[in-house]
Amino acid sequence: MITIDGNTVTLRDSGDLCRSFDIGTPEAFRILSGLWLRSGWDNKYVYSFTWLGRPVIQLPEDMIRLQEAIWSVEPDVIVETGVAHGGSLIFCASLCRVMGRGRVIGVEIDLRPHNRNAIESHALAPLITLVDGDSASAETVAKVRKKIRPRERVMVLLDSSHAKDHVRRELEAYAPLVAAGSYIVAMDGIMATLAGAPRSRPDWGVNNPRQAAREFAAAHGEFELVEPAFPFNEGSIRERVTYWPDAFLRRRAAGHGPPPEARQVARTAGKANPRSGTRRSRAR
Ligand SMILES: C[S@@+](CC[C@H](N)C(=O)[O-])C[C@H]1O[C@@H](n2cnc3c(N)ncnc32)[C@H](O)[C@@H]1O
Repeated sequence: MITIDGNTVTLRDSGDLCRSFDIGTPEAFRILSGLWLRSGWDNKYVYSFTWLGRPVIQLPEDMIRLQEAIWSVEPDVIVETGVAHGGSLIFCASLCRVMGRGRVIGVEIDLRPHNRNAIESHALAPLITLVDGDSASAETVAKVRKKIRPRERVMVLLDSSHAKDHVRRELEAYAPLVAAGSYIVAMDGIMATLAGAPRSRPDWGVNNPRQAAREFAAAHGEFELVEPAFPFNEGSIRERVTYWPDAFLRRRAAGHGPPPEARQVARTAGKANPRSGTRRSRAR
């Protein structure tokens, strides 16, 4: 049981042992964030945002953290499975536009005509390619692969079906595209903590993307499940407030992905593209 009394947060377990934390501590912040996430789930809080005009079904906290990862990776291509209204695709495309580099491929099994029209007529549509189909099918994966040029630096976001087996199949299918230092992100692992909540299923404790990501990391030494470091942090909080726990699978550098000189070639070639003129040149 959790009680909040003034500036004190108290956790009491079934044996009546309790621990109390001042509201200004990271522990209290973690407990209150967990409650906030759960209340937000019950209230469908993440279904209340748009990005540049399109509904985006994400926790804004996660979007800011994703932006930090995209800025650090500088991908040439971001693949996202699960498009829905297109808000997340538009979010990624807007970052590509501002960074002067990159484009987005969205994969969706059931793209509604009004959503397709809105995405295709959006100001950022030139940076977006839509692929129809089941994201885990060999046919769809082949279509996506065809749209990626050799040596392009790819990042992948998995936000379609969140069933563990589906996410495992997506991880197996799309991870080979991911460049060294880049990520494949298995979103919405919060399901693991939501069994019993409204709109949940009883098996979510085990049937979730977090479990898929953990199993994938255990089976693929070339990937590591990481918490991307906060690039800026003058506060005391060190953990993300997130719908995506255990989500960021990063391809290890040594011996995997395109060699650095190949990436250099891709970058130099990219400079011929007017969109890539503003690419930052930074040491990695
Ligand atoms: C959570 S929504 C995506 C939200 C979107 N990424 C955003 O941030 O706004 C999940 C989407 O995945 C799609 N989907 C479900 N199963 C799929 C599959 N097997 N292949 C591709 N898309 C799928 C659904 O139709 C739905 O539009």
